[in-house]
Amino acid sequence: MITKQNKRFTSSLSSKPILQVFQGKPLNPPPFWLMRQAGRYLPEYQEIRSEGEGFLDLCFSPNRAVEVTLQPIKRYNMDAAILFSDILVVPHALGQGVDFQEGEGPVLDDFSGVSKPGEFNLNAFHQCLEPVYETVARVAEKLDKNTALIGFCGAPWTVATYMIEGKSSRDFANIKSFTLTRSEEFQDLLSLLVEASVHYLGEQIKRGAEVLQIFDSWAGILDERQFRQWVIKPTKEIIRRLHETYPHVPVIGFPRQAGPLYVDYVKETGVDAVSLDQTVQVSWVAREIQPLCVAQGNLDPHLLVAGGGAMRDALGDILSALGGAPFIFNLGHGVLPATPPEHVAELAAFIRSRVAIDNLFSEGGG
Ligand code: CP3
Repeated sequence: MITKQNKRFTSSLSSKPILQVFQGKPLNPPPFWLMRQAGRYLPEYQEIRSEGEGFLDLCFSPNRAVEVTLQPIKRYNMDAAILFSDILVVPHALGQGVDFQEGEGPVLDDFSGVSKPGEFNLNAFHQCLEPVYETVARVAEKLDKNTALIGFCGAPWTVATYMIEGKSSRDFANIKSFTLTRSEEFQDLLSLLVEASVHYLGEQIKRGAEVLQIFDSWAGILDERQFRQWVIKPTKEIIRRLHETYPHVPVIGFPRQAGPLYVDYVKETGVDAVSLDQTVQVSWVAREIQPLCVAQGNLDPHLLVAGGGAMRDALGDILSALGGAPFIFNLGHGVLPATPPEHVAELAAFIRSRVAIDNLFSEGGG
């Protein structure tokens, strides 16, 4: 089944399973990677972190960022590496100080110093992010012929929440009141982030990213009208501009916890795949999402912490429901720091072996 949209990807036949899925092929076993596959659950990551430099310095040190990007690939041979960086390098490059403090998460300076859309200084922006681009280029060189490189950014709405809240928030009171009382400034901020994201992702493509993911972790806290204005609209604009210049590069959207609005998100933004969190039913995904685009997801990350039968049961349900159409296995959100590394090995083995058994049956039967 090759749909109209994925004809864009058929000209370059790739040996990389993830890219084949975008050409419209359901693969058995499905390709997989994990959000936050590089990170604190890996002792070799902890070791690099314990060398004492700050987290943002790590993101801006190509040597170490390349190493950290490849750590999970060396252990588990995922079908894709995701650039090691953070969504908050973009506010940093726009002139808003960002600091990651131990045990506190990100802390951002007051955002009043950030430029207006008309004053966006593209040269300064790219100059600041050059180490990230260099990481992309070096990882691209090192990957084997089966492993794809995913570049990413945060979606304007989610990045704006951090810029305005100044840190991780529980109730998002500041940004919600900002959108109401300073709505023009808020629109300007979203426009600035659209502009910045298009340039940021475009440069990642130029340096070797083969797939992009746009993380909208806080999409799920909005009502329908807000979701259309602040999630769908800016994302659609980013994708329209990227597809205009780079039609061959697939874009995955992740409007976390969008619920039924995942459908409109897919239809309206033009994403080539959508990453689904664990709160959506897999039968619903098969019926409502897979006819529209590639589905990615959606194991509860806590099941990867637990491992064992509970994890295998949920994994089995996901693979059975979604494996028959173009599908990329992933978690519903990022790998948690408490995850035992051996559970990731168990997950990888299960995805790859269970499907081998399925193949055996279908060959025997037909
Ligand atoms: O997925 C990957 O392996 C690539 C790297 C990556 C990181 N962050 C590294 C990171 C990616 C894709 C992100 C995205 C990101 N960053 C998101 C969207 C996805 C999501 O999780 O919802 C968000 C909201 C952020 C912002 C952010 N970065 C927060 C809130 C925090 C602190 C909380 C936490 O989980 O530690 C970070 C820090 C961060 N980003 C770490 C890593 C590995 C941990 C830093 C450390 O070593 O202490």
